[in-house]
Amino acid sequence: MTEKSTAPTVGRKAENTFPCRICGGEVRQWFDFGRQPVSNAFLPPEQVGRTLFYRLAVGLCTSCAMVQQAEELPRGRMFHADYPYRASGSAWMRKHFSEVAERFVETELAGPDPFLVEIGSNDGVMLRTISEAGVRHLGVDPSGGAAEVAARQGIDVRVDFFEESLAREVRAEHGPADVIYSANTLSHIAYIDSILRGVAALLAPDGAFVFEDRYLGDIIENTYFDQVYDEHFYLFSVRSVGAMVARFGLELVDVEHLDTHGGTIRYTVTLRGARRRDSSVREALEREDELGLTDPATFAAFGDRVDRVRDELVALLERLRAEGRTVVGYGATSKSATVTNYCGIGTDLVSFVCDSTPEKQGTLSPGSGIPVRPPGDFTGDYPEYAVLFAWNHAEEIMAKERGFRENGGKWIMYVPEVRVI
Ligand code: SAM
Ligand code: TMP
Ligand code: ZN
Repeated sequence: MTEKSTAPTVGRKAENTFPCRICGGEVRQWFDFGRQPVSNAFLPPEQVGRTLFYRLAVGLCTSCAMVQQAEELPRGRMFHADYPYRASGSAWMRKHFSEVAERFVETELAGPDPFLVEIGSNDGVMLRTISEAGVRHLGVDPSGGAAEVAARQGIDVRVDFFEESLAREVRAEHGPADVIYSANTLSHIAYIDSILRGVAALLAPDGAFVFEDRYLGDIIENTYFDQVYDEHFYLFSVRSVGAMVARFGLELVDVEHLDTHGGTIRYTVTLRGARRRDSSVREALEREDELGLTDPATFAAFGDRVDRVRDELVALLERLRAEGRTVVGYGATSKSATVTNYCGIGTDLVSFVCDSTPEKQGTLSPGSGIPVRPPGDFTGDYPEYAVLFAWNHAEEIMAKERGFRENGGKWIMYVPEVRVI
């Protein structure tokens, strides 16, 4: 039997339904990306056989509007001592997080002996500023290697998965939290019910739970299909987050749209009734209705655009190969796992990908096997074309790599559509 005949239908035609992780309602699948690897499984060549694959498919809950994946990976296979992602890798994001921290210190943490907990503190990119301000804090992150980087800077971290039991322990040991903060982490956690029960137990009566995550509205509007990968188990909208937190005695009181990672929303959640709801929530809900974020037709049209991008990107790379051009990738992102594996892009089309993260260099990209090399290999001998997988850092990278364009190099972008610049 060939693999093709046993594989489930890939693309937008698959017609699965599955139960919602949040409300138990019916989730209608709208896209199946097929067999995909753990997106951060950047492994040395001799360990590549250990890469775990699963079926990456996403659907929309017809009751609570949460967009979520059909299958879940074991959390320890995604986040562990060797998890290679380092949040401090971008100067732009370092600035973003120090501003977040400074704002907390001036506002939510201005009272006596404040306490902040961060879920998914990674290498301490945000907590560094909190720690320097002398504020009591605790970072919780299961990725021991990243947490070690934070601990070496004097930041208090606990290497573990945040969940309800841990939240109760933290409260017993340190008291209630004035702020619970989380960036680019909450959407990664399939067992989010346990997180939210934990948040409700740990938060001070007038405390704020603030989290930032990629926004479904931006993903849909801009065909950012590579934002769908194992770690983005949920794709949040204001509607789905509002409904979700309400199930746990919490209330969404404020939303703020940010430009980070191609479009993010910062959600502010409190214990129910603790604060007045800002008009930003209602305004965002109205905009979501205009965008059709609960309309199956919106997702079907998105799926059509994804397949157009795939066909055009592969055609472009095949043409460049036929012309004997040199093509590399820039940014060994988790997003690139979805692009390369869904489009079938391997070393025949993209010879290597450069990345500034030492932990990723010398490894092979999950699934595609594209080698990861240091940026020096890019600047040392410029290729003719570079696929910008880290498009969310385009401004920073293009400024840093000005020499590439000056030497005749061209960037290949693939979202919102395929273009060469
Ligand atoms: N907050 C950083 C940022 O915004 O760049 C890091 C985001 S990184 C994509 C996600 C982080 O969440 C990883 O460091 C991972 O180990 C952590 N994580 C995953 N599940 C977690 C959990 N249950 N509790 C705490 N951290 C978790
Ligand atoms: P992210 O899109 O998940 O933030 O990952 C960005 C990746 O791109 C990360 O592996 C670091 C890498 N990167 C570079 O190689 N050079 C850069 O200048 C920046 C900003 C990121
Ligand atoms: Zn639901």
